[in-house]
Amino acid sequence: MTIKRRDLLKGGLASMGLASLSACRFSLVQTNNDDLGHPSSDYDYVLTAESVPLEIVPGTQSPALGFNGEFPAPVIRAKQGVPIRILFKNNLQQATTIHWHGIRLDIKMDGVPFLSQDPVRPGESFLYEFTCPDAGTFWYHPHMHSVEQLGKGLVGALIVEEQTPQAFDEDLIIGLKDWRLDKQGQFLPLSIPRHAARAGTLGTVKTVNGQLKPTIDVPAGGLVRLRFLNLDSSRVYHLSLKDMQADIIAIDGSPVETPRPLSTHDMGAGMRLDVALQLPESTGQEITIYDNKGRGYFEIFRLRTTTPKRALLNEPLTALPPNPLPTLDLPSAQTLHFEFEWAGALSPVSPDGKVDQTFWTINRRAWEGLSATSLPAPLATVPLGKTVIMHLHNATPHGHPIHMHGIIFTVLKSDKREIDPFQSDTVLLERNERATIAFVADNPGRWMFHCHVIEHMKTGLMGYITIA
Ligand code: C2O
Ligand code: CU
Ligand code: CU
Repeated sequence: MTIKRRDLLKGGLASMGLASLSACRFSLVQTNNDDLGHPSSDYDYVLTAESVPLEIVPGTQSPALGFNGEFPAPVIRAKQGVPIRILFKNNLQQATTIHWHGIRLDIKMDGVPFLSQDPVRPGESFLYEFTCPDAGTFWYHPHMHSVEQLGKGLVGALIVEEQTPQAFDEDLIIGLKDWRLDKQGQFLPLSIPRHAARAGTLGTVKTVNGQLKPTIDVPAGGLVRLRFLNLDSSRVYHLSLKDMQADIIAIDGSPVETPRPLSTHDMGAGMRLDVALQLPESTGQEITIYDNKGRGYFEIFRLRTTTPKRALLNEPLTALPPNPLPTLDLPSAQTLHFEFEWAGALSPVSPDGKVDQTFWTINRRAWEGLSATSLPAPLATVPLGKTVIMHLHNATPHGHPIHMHGIIFTVLKSDKREIDPFQSDTVLLERNERATIAFVADNPGRWMFHCHVIEHMKTGLMGYITIA
């Protein structure tokens, strides 16, 4: 007889009670693994947010925060259309919530304090239970004290497997994150007002899956899927393979209709990119992935071809299956306009060093903050089922990756570049850019709408939209 770990977990929870969970440190609880170690039919995880010393700068220890004491955080794997249950435990000194970025889920599971759930206080747990309708590369992170909690390491990948998995010889997660550390590995101030009022405070140490410029082995001659995730709080990556042919197969989790050749793709904070790469047949070949800034190409990391560990599939590259998004009804759409602006003078730094300044506005309003007793008015209210067209205008000299919860939108056009419409949950607006996005408001709730440069959202560039 096989005892499923899921049953153990359930029984365990029932008999021990949630409180005693803290006595034993669960790491990843993943159930029904098949022989390859892939989860098959059930998915259950216990995620604990806690302090953890991490070696980011070699030879030093940084007082970081992590999920289950690890960085990179456990990869949550869900299957499209199959419910997933994640027990979250807060072992931090602060309240928090977990948000599942890009997932079209029930508002009660969206993880925004006060707007969709009560904060999870230190020592408390919360059961996140939802079904992912869309397959793709998503991620998870807290939605409280975000400058500190994300900046110190609470970010992780959430992979939703296609109902009919696509054949790749290798499927790699490439999590990009910078850290603001000094040479001794101590955290530098995570937000500096004069940077928060501009492009954001950048990290000093860049990592790929927690490592400095790693070289990752890949099977020679294989077809690999690279899932890039910009888990950083501020940085824009300009991904390029330079001379190597590679194809974009999904943008921000959503498959593109036909694979598109990758030249340079700008990926703002929170954004993702899935790339398919046919590797050379010979072993020992190195392929560099670059951050391309104008004429300059800066190495992010490398792949190195090695002898395949198993027979190659020899499958040709095909488009990923589309996700089941509702069809836009543009002729009868409701139109909304959003102006993103700079709010003016820098206010003095508060004595405790907190960034509570207002630097940014959406339609002349800065985020007023949330509490149990005060909820600002929504930026807009749209009727359930209606198609919404949003004209976005970045009237500032800095880029803003604009993200909306609860829905996936289609990027229709921009005045800065040719757009072949694609679906996304975050659109990067360059300085002075105007772009148009549209979606069907089919998910009722109060959905955050904000810039994913964490300091920008904290200093004004945040609001919410009610779908009712
Ligand atoms: Cu990753 Cu409110 O977002
Ligand atoms: Cu989100
Ligand atoms: Cu911004």
